[in-house]
Amino acid sequence: MIDIHSHILPYIDDGAKDMDMAIEMAKIYLENGIKTVIATPHYIEKNISTSKEDTKNILEDLKIQLDREGLDLEIFLGNEAYISMDLIKDIEEGYMATLNGTRYILVELPMMDIPLYVENVIYELLLKGYVPIIAHPERNAKIIEDPNILYNLIEKGALAQLNLPSLEGKYGEEIQETAEILLKHNMIHFLGTDAHGSRRKSPRFSKALEILKTIVSEEDYDSLTYQNPTLLLKNENIYTKSPIKYSPKKGFLSKLIRKLPIR
Ligand SMILES: [Fe+2]
Repeated sequence: MIDIHSHILPYIDDGAKDMDMAIEMAKIYLENGIKTVIATPHYIEKNISTSKEDTKNILEDLKIQLDREGLDLEIFLGNEAYISMDLIKDIEEGYMATLNGTRYILVELPMMDIPLYVENVIYELLLKGYVPIIAHPERNAKIIEDPNILYNLIEKGALAQLNLPSLEGKYGEEIQETAEILLKHNMIHFLGTDAHGSRRKSPRFSKALEILKTIVSEEDYDSLTYQNPTLLLKNENIYTKSPIKYSPKKGFLSKLIRKLPIR
C-alpha cells in the first residue's frame, strides 16, 4: 500500500518529534507492508508553517538515516494544507508543497464545520488545474451528519482520502461507520495512515487493511491501496467510479436500530 498522508517528518509539526521517532515510524510502516509514503506536514499559513525548503532538507536528512539503518522506505514530499482563502496564493507563491510536486493537493477541513468558503476554494483550485483531495472526511462533524456534503464536493471534482485508523474505530464508532458509508458509496479514492508518532500512537495498519478487504471489492481495494496513489505520484489522472448518493432515510433508520437496546 502507498500512504498519501503521514506526519513522519521530524521537528516540523505534531508528528515525529525527532529523528529517532521518525525511524521508529519507518519500521512500523515496513512491518505493516507499507513501503511508500508521502510526508504531509501540516501547512496552516505561510507565517506559521515550515517552509518548503526546510521541509525538503529535513526529508533529505531522514533519507540518509533510513539508508544507514537499512530501511527501504520510499518517502515523497507534500503538505496537509488547512483550507483557507489564501491557499491558492500560497501554492502559487511556492510556499506550500503539492503532493510530490504534482497537481494533487491534500486539503484539511476544520473538524467541526464546513465553512461557506470551502466550496469556493475547492472550485478555484479545480479551475486552476489543481486536484484537491479532502483529508479524512469521515472525521468531519458535518459530513458525519450528512455524507452527501462530501458527495457534492466529489461531484464538483474533489477527491477524498480515508484514514486507515478510522476503520479500526480508533476515533470512535460514528467515524468508523461514516468511513464504511463513504467507502461503499464510492466517495473515497486514497488511503492514509495520518501517522503521527511512535508505536503506542500507531495502530496496526495491516489490521485496518484486512477490515477494508471486507468492505470493498478486490478491484477497489487495489485502486485504493496501489493504483490510484501510483497514478497520483506520476501526476496522472486516476480512474474514479461515480459517487453514489447516500440515502439519509436509510441512514436514520439504521442509526435508530443501532440505538435500540436489543440487537
Ligand atoms: Fe494529518
